[in-house]
Amino acid sequence: MSQAGYVHGSTDEREVARLEKQADFTAGFTFSTLGLEAGQRVLDLATGVGAMGARLQRPGLHVVGVDLSATQLGAARKNHPTLPVLRGDATGLPFADATFDRVHCSWLLEHVSDPVAVLREVRRVLKPGACCQFVEVDNATLQLTPPSEAVTTLTRLLNDAQVRGGGDPFIGARVEQVFAAAGFERLRVERQQLVGSAAEPRFFQAFVDEFAEIYEGLDESLGADLAPLIARAAAEIRALLHTPHASLRYTPVVVQAWR
Ligand SMILES: C[S@@+](CC[C@H](N)C(=O)[O-])C[C@H]1O[C@@H](n2cnc3c(N)ncnc32)[C@H](O)[C@@H]1O
Repeated sequence: MSQAGYVHGSTDEREVARLEKQADFTAGFTFSTLGLEAGQRVLDLATGVGAMGARLQRPGLHVVGVDLSATQLGAARKNHPTLPVLRGDATGLPFADATFDRVHCSWLLEHVSDPVAVLREVRRVLKPGACCQFVEVDNATLQLTPPSEAVTTLTRLLNDAQVRGGGDPFIGARVEQVFAAAGFERLRVERQQLVGSAAEPRFFQAFVDEFAEIYEGLDESLGADLAPLIARAAAEIRALLHTPHASLRYTPVVVQAWR
C-alpha cells in the first residue's frame, strides 16, 4: 500500500464538514474542463468522504468512488448514500483495463510515496482517448501579504511531516515529469494563481477559511503541543480579511492527461 502519513486528520464531524466545504471550493475551478457527458463512467479516485464524488454526480453519469481508508468510506456511505464507493489502493485498482471515460482525483498525489505507480494504474483503467484530471498542491506557492510568521512556521512543519511520511507537498511543481514517467504523452497543466483580496470579498473569505480550517484540523496529526501555534496561524490568516491591502495567494495545479 502506498499511503504516506496522512496529515489531514480523521473523519470526525469537523473534518468531514471541512472536506465538504473544500469540495465546493475545488469543484469551482476543476469540473468545468472535465468534459462530463451523460453515459460516461467516471471514477473519483481517493474519494475520501465522497465529497467530490457526490458533486460529480448528475443524471446519466455513472460515478464510483475509490479510497484506501475504510473510515473515510464509512463517512462517504453515510453522507452520500447514492454514491457507490469501493475500498481500493490507487496503485492496484479493482477495475478491468479501459473501464472509465473520466477519472477525477483531488489532493492525492501529495500523500503517496509512488505517484508514478498511481498514474500508471489510472492510465490502465482509462479507455483509449479518455482523460483524467488531477488537482494537486504546491505548498511553495503560498504567499500572505502581509506575511505571518506563524503561518510560515506551521506550513514548514506540515510540509516536513508530509515528507517524513513519504509524500511530497511540492508535487505540483513536477507533475510534467511524473505524468510523463507514467506514460502520459498528452497533458494540459494549469497553474492559475488564486488571489484572495478585498477586491473579491466572498472569494477572499472562502479562500482564507479553507486554509484556516486546514490548520485547525492539524492538531491531531502534528501533536497537541502545537495547538498554540495552530491557533496563532489560523488567527493571523483570518486577520487578513480585516487588514487593508492584504492578500492571500496560492497556486494549485490542475492536470488533465489523455490516454
Ligand atoms: C486529502 S484527501 C482528499 C479526499 C478527496 N479527494 C477530496 O478532495 O475531498 C486524500 C485521500 O486519499 C486517500 N488515499 C491515500 N492514499 C491512497 C491510496 N494509495 N489509494 C487510495 N486512496 C488513497 C486517503 O485515504 C484520503 O481519503
